[in-house]
Amino acid sequence: MNIVYLNGVFLPDTEARISVFDRGFLFGDSVYEVIPFYQGRGFRLEQHLQRLQHSLRAVRIHCELDWADILQALVTQNGGGNLSVYLQVSRGDTGERSHAFDEIMAPTVFAFCQPIRDIYQAGPDLVEPVRAIVTADMRGHRCDIKSTCLQPNIMVLQQARAQGAAEALQLRNGLLTEGTSSNLYIVRQNVICTPRLGSDILGGVTRQLVLELADREGIQYQEIDLDYEQLLAADEVWISSSTRAVVPVIEVDGERIGTGQPGPLWRRMYQLFIEFHHALMTGQSKDV
Ligand code: PDD
Repeated sequence: MNIVYLNGVFLPDTEARISVFDRGFLFGDSVYEVIPFYQGRGFRLEQHLQRLQHSLRAVRIHCELDWADILQALVTQNGGGNLSVYLQVSRGDTGERSHAFDEIMAPTVFAFCQPIRDIYQAGPDLVEPVRAIVTADMRGHRCDIKSTCLQPNIMVLQQARAQGAAEALQLRNGLLTEGTSSNLYIVRQNVICTPRLGSDILGGVTRQLVLELADREGIQYQEIDLDYEQLLAADEVWISSSTRAVVPVIEVDGERIGTGQPGPLWRRMYQLFIEFHHALMTGQSKDV
C-alpha cells in the first residue's frame, strides 16, 4: 500500500479523495514536480523546489508550505529507499465550474511516491539508448511553467510510441525545443549544444546539472538555436530528465545518429553523473 499526502494528511492512496470540481481536474489548472529520492535523500531537491516556486508564482497559485519536510516525511512513510516523488498543486475547488478564479483560494496539494531504479548503480552499460521522432511543438507559450496541461505532450509521445520510438523531439518555428518530458542536447565536435532557456522549454534540473558538470570539467557547451539538419548531422544526441539522467538517442526519424551507438561524450557525462551521485550519497558533497 502506498501512503500519499493530501492537503496536510498522510493516508493510504485508496482513501485519498479530491473534489470533482477541483480546478486541476476540470482545467488542468495546476503545476507539478517530479523529484527522485535515492536512499531516502532528494536529488537536487532545492532546485526542484525553486522551480516549483517559479511555476506557482507564474500562475498565481499562492501556496507556501514546508515542502522539503512534507516530501521527506512522505518518503520515510513509504519506506525510504529509491523513490520518485510526484507533487502537484492545483488552484483548488470552488464547488462549481467557472473559468475565472478568486485570487485567494485553498490549493489542493497532493504527493505520492513510486519506486525507481537507482540508475547510478546500474552504470552506463545498462542504460538503454533510445530512438526518437521529430514532431511539431503543439504546446502553449509558457513551457517554462511545469504545468499539468500535458495533453500536447502525451499526444506526440503516443505518436512516437506508434513509430517504435521512445521520445518525440519538438520543433517550433524551425527550431528544436525539447522532448515531451526531457531536455535535448546535440554534440558536435566535442561541444554540447542545447536550446537556450526561455519560455519555449522547461528549465530542467538535470539540464542545469549537465551544464554545471561540463563547466567544472572544462567540457565546452553552448546554449544556442538548433534546427532539424543540425540534429541529424550531430555526432551525438542526448535527452535528460530527473529520473533518467542523461540518455543517448541513437536514431531520429529512422536516421542513425553518429555511429548509431552511445557516444564517448555521453559516456563521460554519465560517468560524471555517477560520481556526483556517489559524492552526495557518501556525504562527500553537501550539494543535493
Ligand atoms: N518531466 N522538459 C519537459 C517538458 C519535462 O516534462 C521534463 C521533466 C524535463 C526535464 O526536467 P528535469 O530535468 O527537471 O526532470 C524537460 C518530468 C520528469 C515528468 O513530467 O515526469
